[in-house]
Amino acid sequence: MIFATELPKRGPLRAAIDAAFLADEAACVEALLPQAAVAEDAGGRIADRARQLVLAVRERRKAHGGLDAFMHEYDLSSEEGVVLMCLAEALLRIPDADTADRLIRDKLARGQWDRHLGQSHSLFVNASTWGLMLTGRIVRLETLTVDDITAFLGRLTARMGEPVIRVALTQAMRIMAHQFVMGRTIEEAIKRSHAPEHRDYLHSFDMLGEAALTSDDAERYYESYVHAINALAAEAGDSADVYSAPSISVKLSALHPRFEYAQRGRVLAELVPRVEALSMLARDAGVGITLDAEEADRLDLMLDVVEAVYKAVRAREWHGLGVVVQAYQKRAIHMVAWLIELARRHRRRIPVRLVKGAYWDAEIKHAQQQGLDGYPVFTRKVSTDVSYLACARQIWAARDRLYPEFATHNAHTAAFVLEMAGKERGFEFQRLHGMGQALYGELVGAEKQNVACRIYAPVGSHEDLLPYLVRRLLENGANTSFVNRLSDEQAPVDEIIADPVLVTRATQPVPHPRIPLPIDLYGSERRNARGLNLASTSELVALAQAMDKALGEAWTTAPLVDGEALEGSERALTDPSDRRRVIGRAFDADDAAVERALASASAAATFWAQTEVDRRARCLERAAE
Ligand code: FAD
Ligand code: 2OP
Repeated sequence: MIFATELPKRGPLRAAIDAAFLADEAACVEALLPQAAVAEDAGGRIADRARQLVLAVRERRKAHGGLDAFMHEYDLSSEEGVVLMCLAEALLRIPDADTADRLIRDKLARGQWDRHLGQSHSLFVNASTWGLMLTGRIVRLETLTVDDITAFLGRLTARMGEPVIRVALTQAMRIMAHQFVMGRTIEEAIKRSHAPEHRDYLHSFDMLGEAALTSDDAERYYESYVHAINALAAEAGDSADVYSAPSISVKLSALHPRFEYAQRGRVLAELVPRVEALSMLARDAGVGITLDAEEADRLDLMLDVVEAVYKAVRAREWHGLGVVVQAYQKRAIHMVAWLIELARRHRRRIPVRLVKGAYWDAEIKHAQQQGLDGYPVFTRKVSTDVSYLACARQIWAARDRLYPEFATHNAHTAAFVLEMAGKERGFEFQRLHGMGQALYGELVGAEKQNVACRIYAPVGSHEDLLPYLVRRLLENGANTSFVNRLSDEQAPVDEIIADPVLVTRATQPVPHPRIPLPIDLYGSERRNARGLNLASTSELVALAQAMDKALGEAWTTAPLVDGEALEGSERALTDPSDRRRVIGRAFDADDAAVERALASASAAATFWAQTEVDRRARCLERAAE
């Protein structure tokens, strides 16, 4: 065994999860389709309900205006949408004014706006929105003509003075950030949860913070959860059970500075007791806990933590420790099967929040950057939808063991769930604070569908909000998102609410043709470098075996001249990761070998120079491969 800590042994259900990590998308979807498909009459009822919801939601939105319309204007397929995104991501955390000014100058004054303006009137609308966002502090943009705006934007940074622009833009970002945050402190958020518009909802409070970099950060986030649970104890007092009580949502990466596979031993030793302590605190307070799902390479470790905490938490009567399943992962359906088995084994009911997944763009890029054999997530939105419906069915079928929590802002997805549940209740929908109000306005309440809905309510300051905010901007700005298409009045309703199973059956190829496998990223230009998936147990086991085998062989290196291995002065060859370990012998090139190599190269130089460029290039490419 070459690794510092022993690799875990997996049972068949965990092995099935691992085997699906980077699986072939077409095969995954093929297996999911029957589980997501509905009979024709049910499909008709789902479509009718989804259509009614879309029309009602569009009507409501007209009355409210608001952030979703703004986000639609700043669609990420437009240049200014991307600029806005960059500013939002960076501006609030730049500590000094000078750098902030340079960022703004770089983004706003590079002339991209003018170029875009020449094309269409859309910037006029966008700029008007900016004017609204800036609450008229600088100038009321909507009173200007298109030509004025070109000039105005040109003058913006030059004349008005950078400090003014900086303050205004920072303020605009804060206004936008505020839309997604329930309160700066848990007390403020609890108070807001009592407001009339929240009356019909339950809440899951998320103390903002993730990917802790230091132990101090992790400690601070942990304390904020302890404080939140204590503050919520009074709220939970009157609840009939943990499912009608408030809950908290926790990101494990906030509670440990090295929540990563390579640190598995340390994570299990240090993080499990923390999650166990929070669970016991929550149980005593009558509050539920949900462990959020994060990046794909943290999933296996998260399952280890969940398994260990379930083993450690002795209170069998508590059914409040929940887990998030991301349907965009190819492992999702296998994870549901494993959760059912875990619940049976420990005689618990596990709350399972089904989401589609919030890290899609990052997952695609990471897999490409690492040169993985495939993607952990689907590449077509509709594949994710199919997976969601199949997982929803499986969770629903196991509702004696899993408490179903369906988190979505998509009218078709919600209509599917309502059709599946029929008149039965005993499950909940969930939405994010600042999103989905209009949709759930149509569903929540005794006079509507009488379904329970919980709001995921982020709590904290804007410093801790940024990664969360960026995920919301990506979600709202992507033109594949339901919320984005909903706010596009031009988008036909039938397309927005199309049954993903039917769409998938009519779509070839199943994986998105414009998202090639990581190895084919550079097309015909060259192959991408292949990497290892170091977050997969089975891949690590294979790697360890290959390394063991390699260690068992005697290796010899020698200078090669004209294809012949030359012997020269000999020395022991050691393992670069442990110099005490001799793995073979090396012959270094001596003067005679160098002379031979040079003579051979000189003799070949003329022939090489006369060889066609294409042929020489192919030789070099072969050598590189
Ligand atoms: P839809 O518009 O129907 O779906 C959008 C989703 O489709 C995207 O978010 C993405 O997942 C997927 N998608 C988009 N393009 C593609 C593509 N090309 N290929 C494949 N898939 C694609 N997310 C987490 O990751 N972890 C969490 O713990 C978590 N907790 C949440 C809690 C609540 C209460 C809610 C409401 C959401 C939570 N989310 C979480 C975020 C959630 O993932 C997104 O809000 C959700 O994906 C949006 O889905 P939808 O059904 O509302 O929208
Ligand atoms: C996120 O943090 C809501 O957990 C989800 O994006």
